[in-house]
Amino acid sequence: MKNQQRETFSSGLAVFFATLGSAVGLGNIWKFPYMIGANGGAAFLLIYFLCVLFVGLPIMVSEFYIGRKTRKNVIGAMKQLKPNSAWKSIGVFGIITAYLIMFFYTCVAGWVYFYVFKAIKGDFSGVTVESSKAMFGAAVVGPISPIIWQIIVLTVVSAILIMGVQKGIEKVTKTLMPVLFLLIIICDIRALMLPGSSEGLKFLFKVDFSMLTKQSILMALGLAFFKLSLGMGTMVTYGSYFTKDNNLINTSVKVALSDTLVSVLAGIAIFPAVFAFNMKPGAGPGLLFMTIPLVFSKIPFGNILLVLFFILTSIAATTAMMSILEVLIAYFTEEKGLSRKKAVIFNAIFIAVIGVLASLSADSSSILGNIKIFGKGFFDLFDFVSSNILMPIGGLLIAVFMGYMVKKDEIRHELSNHGTLNIDWAINLYYFILRYIAPVLLIIVFLNSIGILKF
Ligand code: PFF
Repeated sequence: MKNQQRETFSSGLAVFFATLGSAVGLGNIWKFPYMIGANGGAAFLLIYFLCVLFVGLPIMVSEFYIGRKTRKNVIGAMKQLKPNSAWKSIGVFGIITAYLIMFFYTCVAGWVYFYVFKAIKGDFSGVTVESSKAMFGAAVVGPISPIIWQIIVLTVVSAILIMGVQKGIEKVTKTLMPVLFLLIIICDIRALMLPGSSEGLKFLFKVDFSMLTKQSILMALGLAFFKLSLGMGTMVTYGSYFTKDNNLINTSVKVALSDTLVSVLAGIAIFPAVFAFNMKPGAGPGLLFMTIPLVFSKIPFGNILLVLFFILTSIAATTAMMSILEVLIAYFTEEKGLSRKKAVIFNAIFIAVIGVLASLSADSSSILGNIKIFGKGFFDLFDFVSSNILMPIGGLLIAVFMGYMVKKDEIRHELSNHGTLNIDWAINLYYFILRYIAPVLLIIVFLNSIGILKF
């Protein structure tokens, strides 16, 4: 199995869209816009940029390096770079994190698919605050329908992945990412035409440093991780499919900037409408599933907009899930010798079975809503352990590994594409941030997120 012919993406553009497809996800559409608004608008955006620059980018470049240099899955890659060492744990953490995220992400994605279906059926015409809440409650508490939609989501993602890297991931992301951009722009234009939309823009873009707290800095750092799919080997896996002439630093910068742009555009689509109807912007699923149908249903042609909005959200969620599942597929095909098809089916079934726990515990009135482990239901536990514990640990280990275990000459050689790119300054900057800034910031966030260090 060792040196089998491995697929790669076919071009730089394919690399860009696939990677952006991983970064853009549910995070952009409900987490990011709300956080900008609640934490001082553009002031938060500035902090987020700094987090991306000082932590996100160096880790992304490192993951691409590890992937493309070894052309292996995340465990295989670490074994190749440091045989028989504990560094393999980066890969092991990655695999565990991929499962945990998939368990709950497929559940939320299931609600999104369901909402596309409901919007197409016209279920939201004449919706009121009460009925919108009731509909979301019914969609989440189920119990059968959320599980069925979760299985539909997994079937779609699996069908794409079975087709392979070029015919599956590359083709779908190259087609759908431009569609996603177009749909967001349409929603933006409509939202900006609403009377009173300037209030929403003010919420999003005010520069209010007084609203920034230490907590917002930590939130921005955590968000940068989740947003850019870092710390769990996703970018190692995609990096292993990159073309050999790809400029890894350049790709990282382009992906981080485009991903942030999508988040801001999503905010522009959402907040003017929320404010035009005098609603309070709420966080998380509430905003996405209860508020959006309500506000869009009041706009002329709002139902079409609603369908488009949920379609774009489901595209974002689907391409993100493809990248998470690919971490597992690459591992099972290369290390365990499974065929691609078997690896996909086996993992999809496993995720569906355990993911049911997330679906049945998403709300306190769900069937398993009252079962608590360490004070959290299954849904919240999967989310918390993956985003707040494993991803930062993974990121820290990657930063320390690359900064202190790999020779700078080797890094320079790979990042400059064997000396063909003249980007010494960028490599030096990357290396400095990687060694001296990223690990320190990560330790602070991690200690805070598990409650050891309190601000
Ligand atoms: N970046 C995705 C989002 O913002 O929704 C989430 C994600 C995708 C996290 C892939 C981790 C990952 F490996």
